Amino acid sequence: MNHFELLAGADGGAELACEGVPLSRIAEAVGTPVYVYSSATLERHYTVLRDALAGAGLKDPLIAFAVKANSNVAVLRTLAALGAGADVVSEGEVRRALAAGVPPARIVFSGVGKTEAEVEFAVRTGVAEINVESEPELHLVDRVAQRLGKRQPVAIRVNPDVAAGGHAKIATGKADNKFGVSFSEAERLYANAANMAGVRPVGVACHIGSQITDLAPMEAAFAKMRGLVERLRAEGLPLERLDLGGGLGVPYFNQPEPPSPADYAAMIARATKGLDVQFAFEPGRVIAANAGVLLARVVHVHERPEGRKFLVLDAAMNDLIRPAMYDAFHDIRPVRPRAGEAVAYDVVGPVCETGDTFTRDRALPPLEAGDLVAFMSAGAYGAAMASEYNSRLLVPEVLVKGAEFAVVRPRPTYDDMLAREATAPWQG
Ligand code: LLP
Repeated sequence: MNHFELLAGADGGAELACEGVPLSRIAEAVGTPVYVYSSATLERHYTVLRDALAGAGLKDPLIAFAVKANSNVAVLRTLAALGAGADVVSEGEVRRALAAGVPPARIVFSGVGKTEAEVEFAVRTGVAEINVESEPELHLVDRVAQRLGKRQPVAIRVNPDVAAGGHAKIATGKADNKFGVSFSEAERLYANAANMAGVRPVGVACHIGSQITDLAPMEAAFAKMRGLVERLRAEGLPLERLDLGGGLGVPYFNQPEPPSPADYAAMIARATKGLDVQFAFEPGRVIAANAGVLLARVVHVHERPEGRKFLVLDAAMNDLIRPAMYDAFHDIRPVRPRAGEAVAYDVVGPVCETGDTFTRDRALPPLEAGDLVAFMSAGAYGAAMASEYNSRLLVPEVLVKGAEFAVVRPRPTYDDMLAREATAPWQG
């Protein structure tokens, strides 16, 4: 469920709103393109997941929101206020989580290529867990922490070698992906880590992919993780935490309904029955995707004499790259639907490459230049992946709460954009 619904407008026509704010008001105040997030939806998705996990008897889990999905500090603060932690993959994300008020004790640091400087920053910060993804990285964390006179809690990230996840570019759990180590490696590294002065192994972690709509591969992976926990404990090694990553899919309106958080929680309870550990999760998409839209305006309707109709928007692949990069489907809704027969449009942006096509032959209500449209389910991996390609200004972000809205990342000016660059001294 989300809080983007049609409301009756002042003139009696229906208009798409975020909570109590008509999207046209935001478009007028901030301009387009712009991302709009619903606080109520973020809060609801977080609490539904938290309650589902609690309902399945998973005691006191650490729910570390995957900051990569939506790294806006106001969004992070909304979740932090409910007790969410943060799953981060760079120093920048650690800093964002801290700026949003996430306590270090709820920060989990993942990623295959943490640099020495990033590890040092994380160790100094006192993050709850560094998820170590390889043997050289274990030695790096040990060395840095020893230098700082600390003993850093780590988890070994395992690659469970199962296939899952919607698109090849976002599947992470197969042995030929770059993430994590094998089960046998994990056992060896864990035992080694227990003897290192700079690290303290506290758990094992996995994350097998994203936009997963079938629980079976997750269950297979988690059952294997359970076996690993039991083997490590049988060897007498201490282990407190089992981090099961993120990955739960969301409805994008063109697919079968994904499993509910309750089904997901029940599956985890089944796969890990009797295991006495603290669970950690790294959900991103399931919390943020349907809590945000990308609002854009129709610049032209360009009709080819042969019949193709291009809906040219002021949003482009640099603002929302998911369709170009993963062939992702986003529902597109007119903000003020016009009456009339549906029309098949190719929906495109102004960027100079054919990949800047959001969708082809999509049946939509008739649209005209100047109309507003909303790309639904764009709250995860939308703004976070935006760029300035074609020297388009970085897309701004707005957070709505009830009848109020606030610009939480303003649109830069062209002067801001140019001020970040300089000519070389020899260029005069
Ligand atoms: N934990 C780790 C270690 C991850 O790599 C990811 C996502 C997550 C958690 C969160 O996964 P989620 O719950 O959001 O599925 N840009 C792509 C998605 C990339 C996902 C990368 N890793 C997209 O737009 O679909």
